[in-house]
Amino acid sequence: MKQRHPFLLRTLPYSFRVGIALLVITLLGGYIVSGLHLSWHYDNRDEEPGLTMNDIIGAYHGVQSPSPLIQALEEGHPENLSDPERDALLEWLRGDRLSQDYDNLDLGENAPSEIIAFNCLDCHSRAASGENTLPSVPLEYWDDIQGIAYSKDIQPAGTNIVAMSQHAHAPSMAIILIVIAWLAVCTRFWMGLTGLITFVAGLGLLVDMAGWWITRDYAPFAYAVVAGGAIYAAGTTLLGLIVIVDCLLPGGKATAE
Ligand code: HEC
Repeated sequence: MKQRHPFLLRTLPYSFRVGIALLVITLLGGYIVSGLHLSWHYDNRDEEPGLTMNDIIGAYHGVQSPSPLIQALEEGHPENLSDPERDALLEWLRGDRLSQDYDNLDLGENAPSEIIAFNCLDCHSRAASGENTLPSVPLEYWDDIQGIAYSKDIQPAGTNIVAMSQHAHAPSMAIILIVIAWLAVCTRFWMGLTGLITFVAGLGLLVDMAGWWITRDYAPFAYAVVAGGAIYAAGTTLLGLIVIVDCLLPGGKATAE
């Protein structure tokens, strides 16, 4: 016969159990909010909208990628662009007045919008069709160009910031899991299950936290940071639900154990 520790949540008064259930609901609600906060916070590391893997890699490792427009021009694309026009475009793209000078009337024929209209739109407009055109990368409006004009240089957060953030996150996230896991072990549910979830979620948190540092040197580890964090969050949520269900179910007699 298996030995069960004597403390079972369901032997507590119902009001106490409902109180615990409400607290756990609040805790899980807080998690949902901090998940949203996380996605807003990292959202705009790269210029693409939404939380992308690039945002995460940018935050922990940094991302450098050259502007596709500069790259294409430097590689000699398109072939029949005259040298002065190519140089004018490159000078504009490497400067810091991209949006102001795009259709600056003072630049006359050398305004980037003019050069692009004459040299690029045959192939790079939404209406372009035929061989050797690329309507999927239109260059008709500033909005089209903006997305590929800038080089990306996302610097990772400084070590002091990462350390400060971890100083707040690691202990609190670990303690939340310890408390929820301890409550879950006191439920009527099979300990093998709650134990396994605790183990996996704990491992997830460790990988996540260690990953903040590993990703600085090794960018692909950002995926492990995300996976570890997700596993921790899923495990904690699952244990929380187990506790809530156990608290709200009728108590019953615990004497059989
Ligand atoms: C004759 C048609 C044609 C002209 C003119 C042309 N392009 Fe292209 N462009 C293409 C095609 C086809 C591709 C895709 C294949 C390749 O890279 O060669 C491309 C690719 C590109 C890319 C890379 C897009 C990506 O996401 O991979 C950029 C940037 C670009 N062109 C900019 C320009 C600019 C700026 C001009 C004018 C100065 C221009 N192109 C003129 C046909 C053209």
